Amino acid sequence: MNTPAFSLIMFGGTGDLAMRKLLPALYQSYLDDGFKPTSFVMCAARSDYSHETYRAWMNDSVKQHVKERFDEAKWQAFLLHIEYFRLDATNVESYLPLKQRVESNDNERVFYLATSPSIFEPICTGLAAHGLNVNARVVVEKPLGHDLKSCQEINDVIGRVFEEKQIYRIDHYLGKESVQNLMALRFGNSFFEPIWRRERIANVQITISEELGIEKRGDFYDETGALRDMVQNHLLQLLCIVAMDPPASMDADAVRDAKLAVLRSLKPMTQDEVLSNVVRGQYKAGTVGGKDAPAFLDEAGIAPNSATETYVAIKAEINNWRFAGVPFYLRTGKRMPKRMAEIVVEFKPVAYELLGKTPQGSNRLVIELQPEESMRMYCMAKRPGNTMRLGPVHLDMDSDDFFTERRMDGYERLLLDAIHGNLALFVRRDEQEQAWRWVEPIMNTWQDQSVAPKLYTAGTWGPAAANALIARDGFNWHEEL
Ligand code: BG6
Repeated sequence: MNTPAFSLIMFGGTGDLAMRKLLPALYQSYLDDGFKPTSFVMCAARSDYSHETYRAWMNDSVKQHVKERFDEAKWQAFLLHIEYFRLDATNVESYLPLKQRVESNDNERVFYLATSPSIFEPICTGLAAHGLNVNARVVVEKPLGHDLKSCQEINDVIGRVFEEKQIYRIDHYLGKESVQNLMALRFGNSFFEPIWRRERIANVQITISEELGIEKRGDFYDETGALRDMVQNHLLQLLCIVAMDPPASMDADAVRDAKLAVLRSLKPMTQDEVLSNVVRGQYKAGTVGGKDAPAFLDEAGIAPNSATETYVAIKAEINNWRFAGVPFYLRTGKRMPKRMAEIVVEFKPVAYELLGKTPQGSNRLVIELQPEESMRMYCMAKRPGNTMRLGPVHLDMDSDDFFTERRMDGYERLLLDAIHGNLALFVRRDEQEQAWRWVEPIMNTWQDQSVAPKLYTAGTWGPAAANALIARDGFNWHEEL
């Protein structure tokens, strides 16, 4: 059993994140490894539940997210490690029973703030008032703020009570097995490094598309939009991992320094550049996966004239020696034809077409992060026959063939890392703030110039302008080949 004894206190214990992601992730881990007898998860929230009522509720809500690995006997044993704690987060006195419970053992202490950042301050104050900020870690969720200033304010609030090395800012994309595999690919093989640079790479495309709309999160989403929800964090983190220099070591700070260097090299955009290099989109009614999907403006919680974007495509540039002049095209959207996360590295064409014409993009590395995990290297090869005719083939590394072990979900991996005290896959304050710094001119331009989103039909790949954005440079989005 590798997981040390832990006390995980989850604020927002009745929330969607706890039910859909965190508790199922803990159960998966329990199935593999069990928990030490003193380990417990304390779910704290305002409602007046007993442990039993809460566990019964978990039975209904969490069970459905656990899927095929469900095992009734183990589930019952797992529930014994789950406790409910009624907390008025703003009342310092109400933390006293929490203190007593936490101090009843020497477990690793992790506080998970799965709540709105608006109550981080009382929670941090409540914990510090009882000395619970000492020898503990705190995990915080994105989005942290809605711009640089609000992010700094939240970071200040947490930073008054916890040191940076105690703060675990989660970006669940970094916990995905496939994202770590990208690092393995880049830094565990010798043949990519010499070609991983401007001399050989024509462009990089990073796509995260979702079939889902905004589900029941209308109020949140209308204030947030795709730029803040996906680009500022997940897409920029993926970009960092593709573009960073090999870190000095795999220590948390070395990895985070390397990512920060990329964020600092991202070319800031002027208003004119935002207008020509960023596409803002919003879905109208359409069909996704054979089902009718309403327009964003008709979803619950959305203002009837909302200009919030559900789609963004960006041409970003990195001003450093490795990548100057190489466009990085980022795009993400809701209500797309399929759920997918993919990184495409397109290499430059051969210097001289000795064997006849090769189509644009015939050499590319396609890394699929989800739903499947695979890597394909697109090459040209001779078609059989008595003439030298070339055709595209791909060399596949389908990791199902290589690795049969279960792959952890991002949250599971990151929760375990927080329990183990491994910070490498969490975002440091300076990285997070730098990402806001780069994104802000886009938000500001949209606001100053009242940039209305371009409409796209639900179930399509976004506004036509996103195709024009990449076609202008002589390239195509990968799936359109
Ligand atoms: C979250 C966003 O961070 O990531 C959601 O808030 C989005 O809007 C989700 O649906 C996507 O994550 P995944 O792991 O399903 O690709």
